[in-house]
Amino acid sequence: MSARYGVVGWPVAHSRSPLIHNYWLQEAGIDAVYEAVAVPPEANFRAKLEELRGQGFAGVNVTIPHKEAAYAAVDTHDEAAALLGAVNTILLTGGKISGHNTDGRGFIDSLSSARDWTSGPALVLGAGGAARAIVGALLAAGLADIRVCNRTRARAEAVAALADKPEDTGFVRVFDWGARERAAEAATLLVNTTSLGMQGSPALDMGLDTLAAKATVADIVYVPPETDLLARARSQGHMPVNGLGMLVHQAAHAFDLWFGQHPAFDNVLRDRLHRDLGAA
Ligand code: ATR
Repeated sequence: MSARYGVVGWPVAHSRSPLIHNYWLQEAGIDAVYEAVAVPPEANFRAKLEELRGQGFAGVNVTIPHKEAAYAAVDTHDEAAALLGAVNTILLTGGKISGHNTDGRGFIDSLSSARDWTSGPALVLGAGGAARAIVGALLAAGLADIRVCNRTRARAEAVAALADKPEDTGFVRVFDWGARERAAEAATLLVNTTSLGMQGSPALDMGLDTLAAKATVADIVYVPPETDLLARARSQGHMPVNGLGMLVHQAAHAFDLWFGQHPAFDNVLRDRLHRDLGAA
C-alpha cells in the first residue's frame, strides 16, 4: 500500500495542499498519496493522530482550526513550533510524534524575488496565527525593527511578546490600527495578514506613501491573486508579493521533512494552481 499523507483541517475541502503535494510526489516518483482529511474542531487531536497513524498515515499538515491543538498533542516540537505554540507539519513515523512549523520559513522563501526588504523596518498588519509565524520568522532572519499593527491592540501586544527571548536582537513595536500609515514610515517591507482584501472582505484602507521607495508589499491572500493593496503597490513602484508563494514554500519545507528533498515551485505547478484558483 502507498504511504499516506494529508492535510487535517475544518473545513478542508478547498485546500490546495493535495494538488501541490501530489504534483511533487509524482515528479519525484514517490509511492505515496496526499489527501484532505476533515477533522471537526471539537475532535480529540491526539486520538485523531493515533487513529491516522493506524490507518497508514506517515505525516500530516495541519491547518485551521487545529494548529494550536496539534502543538499540544505532539511529543516533540522544533524551535519555530515552540516559539509560536502552533504546529503545521507532523511526522507520525518513529516512536514519537514530532511537530514542526514551516509557515514562517515559507513566508521568507516567498520573498526570494524581492530586493532589499531586510534593509529597513518591517510592518506586519494583523495579529492572528499567520502574523505570529511571520513576525517569528522576521526575528529569526535578524530584522532589528519590526512593527505590528492590529485593530485589537491587545492581540498585537501578544505578537510583540514573541521577541522576549534573550537571544533576540530585534524589537517589535506595537502601533494602534489608526496609526498604520505612520507605522509604515520608511518601511522596506509591509505584510498584510488581516482578512481585509480577501474575496468577500472589504479592501485594506491604507495609503502607501509613507513606505520606503520600492518597498516589498506582501499580502498573504491569494484569492484574488492581486488584491487592491497589491495593485496599488505595483502602480506606486513597490514590489507586490501575493500569498501563493507562502502556501507553496511552507509545503516544500513540509515535503522536505517527510522525504528529505526540497521540491521546486516550478511553472507547471504555478499554472496548475492558477487554473485551480481561477476555477474556484
Ligand atoms: P489568522 O487567520 O491569521 O489566525 P484571524 O484571527 O482570522 O487571523 O484574524 C484576522 C485578522 O484580520 C485579525 O488581525 C483581525 O483583527 P482583530 O484581531 O482586531 O480581529 C483582522 N481584521 C479582520 N477584519 C478587520 C477589519 N474590518 N479591520 C481591521 N482588521 C480586521
